[in-house]
Order: sequence, then C-alpha cells, then structure tokens
Amino acid sequence: MADVVTWDERYALGFDEIDAQHQALFTLINDIWHAQVRGADRATVDALIGRLERYTREHFAAEEALMRSEGCPEIAAHLAEHQQFIHRVALEREHLGERGVVSLDMLHFLRDWLVSHILRADAAYARFLEQGTPRPGFALSRFFTRFLG
Ligand SMILES: [Fe+2]
Repeated sequence: MADVVTWDERYALGFDEIDAQHQALFTLINDIWHAQVRGADRATVDALIGRLERYTREHFAAEEALMRSEGCPEIAAHLAEHQQFIHRVALEREHLGERGVVSLDMLHFLRDWLVSHILRADAAYARFLEQGTPRPGFALSRFFTRFLG
C-alpha cells in the first residue's frame, strides 16, 4: 500500500531523538491513510487522528521546552506555526463527519506542512543547537525522556 509521506535523509536534523519523533509523525499520517484505504470505520479513523493530535502536542511541547532551555531565537514565530498545525489537525477531527473520511488532500497538506516546517523552522533551531556549546550535563536523550518517555 502506498504511503502518503516517505522519510528522506534530507529531513534528518542530526539529533536522533528529534528525527525519531518526526519519523513517528510521518508514520501516524501514513496510518491514517492506510486506514482510509482499508475502509476502516469512523471510530478507527477518529482514534488515529486523536493519536496524531496527542503525539503532535507532546512532540511540539518537547521541542518548545528544548528551544526555551537552550535560548533558541525566534521561539514565538516557531510556536505560532506549531499552534497552526495542531489547530488544523483538531479541526479535521471535529469535522470528520459520519463516514469518517479524511481526504487525501488533507493528508497531503499535513505532509507538506511538516516537511517544510522541518526543513526551515526545525532546521534553524538544529543549526543553533549545533553551534552552541552544550551546557554541562545536558543530554538530549534525557531531556526528551521527560516528555515522550
Ligand atoms: Fe517545530
């Protein structure tokens, strides 16, 4: 079954934990599409969008805390983009309708948004982190454990 979005090494920011979270988001988008193609019922699709919404919130919260803790620039604009994406996913869930159909257009929108956000906004903070001197005892893996277990 074809995927909506395929991971590409171009999207890797070089921080394993962050890259893994972005890959998980791609998988969740593909899961929604696969459920649609299978003809899954409304409850199943609703649950999958709910999962995407929850994971997105957790991932964004982790990214935002990381940016704050490391003093990354342009946090406000980055947060505004996150809010926009969460709003769009939540809206889609609200308007799922009786048949529980998510359009391929919508999934393409989520894909395009994520890819361009990663390549531009996330790549900017990744570059900033790379250039900074890590604080003593700072470990990204430990940092994210607080958010995503
Ligand atoms: Fe981001």
